[in-house]
Formats: sequence, C-alpha cells, structure tokens
Amino acid sequence: MIIDLLRQEHRNIEKLLLVLERELNVFDRGERPDYEVIRAVIDYFQIYPEAYHHPQEDIVFGKLKARDPCAAANIGDLAAEHRSGAERLRQVALAVESVLMDQEVLRHTVGDIIRDFISYERRHIAMEERDFFPAAVKALQPEDWAEIASSRRPGQKDPLFSEIAEDRFDVVRRHILQWEQEAEAERERC
Ligand SMILES: [Fe+2]
Ligand SMILES: [Fe+2]
Repeated sequence: MIIDLLRQEHRNIEKLLLVLERELNVFDRGERPDYEVIRAVIDYFQIYPEAYHHPQEDIVFGKLKARDPCAAANIGDLAAEHRSGAERLRQVALAVESVLMDQEVLRHTVGDIIRDFISYERRHIAMEERDFFPAAVKALQPEDWAEIASSRRPGQKDPLFSEIAEDRFDVVRRHILQWEQEAEAERERC
C-alpha cells in the first residue's frame, strides 16, 4: 500500500537525518566531519525525497482535499511545507559548499542551518504520520489509491535503499550499516 511505502521512506529519511546529525556533532566539536558523507546525504535528499516522496504525498493530499476538505484544511498547506523543506535543503547545500570553498562563514551559522533542516524534517514527518496519513487512510477510496499507485513510475527506485542502489551512496550505506552493527552489539551487551 502506498502509505506503507511512504512510511518506509520516512524510516529511511530518518536514518539519513541521523547520519547528518552525527556529522554535525563532529562539526560542532570543531573537528572535520566527513564531507563526502554530508554531500551524499544532500544528494540523496535532492534525488529521492524531493523528486519522488514529496510529489507522491502531494498527490495523496490532493485526493484528501477532494474527499475530505475539512481534514485537509486541518493539516494545512502540505505543498508549502515541502517547498519550505526544499529551500532549507538548498541552504544546507550552500552552507556546506561555502565551508568547503573556505569562504567566510561562521561555523555556528552553518551548524544552525543544518540543525534547522534536521528538526524541520523530523517535525514534518511526525506531523504526516500523526495527522496526514491517518486522515488519508480514512478518507481515500480504493480507486484513489489505484490511481496514485499508477502514478508511481516503474523506474522510480530509491537510489540508496533499493536493489538498484547507486555506488555513490556506498559511503552513506557503510555508515548506516556500521551503526546498526554497533547498536546490535550494544543490545547484546545489555
Ligand atoms: Fe512530506
Ligand atoms: Fe513524508
């Protein structure tokens, strides 16, 4: 079901936000984070969530507006939230590039921009799972879901978490795998 896929994509996005947060902590300590990882995370957000996940949600939201305008109104302007998230991502990309080009940017400004993006995305995901998805599940009809499913292009695969994963995301994948193993080892110790 589409909502299950969207939820799964949220879990993947959360992993990436954690990767970014870890690198941000390194940066905050005044050390050099792994910029290859940070750039890969930014690329991933531009390629998948921005290009597929959010547009798909916008379609679901359009259907919700048609079926239950009050429920949609309570949620607010989803497309505007997505645009705002995209703008924050653009600011993150610019801030990171300025650091890499040794331009005069205040470290705390860069940190704030990245932190703001992470918390915005987390709040957005939480809102969607709390308000938007349940409202859509309640209001949409089987024909709506069928139509939405057919709008998902067949070649539309996640470049990091699907079987067609791209090499350039190997560095992020290794990171995620590493802490999953660390977390597992931690659990076994307890
Ligand atoms: Fe969204
Ligand atoms: Fe979402």
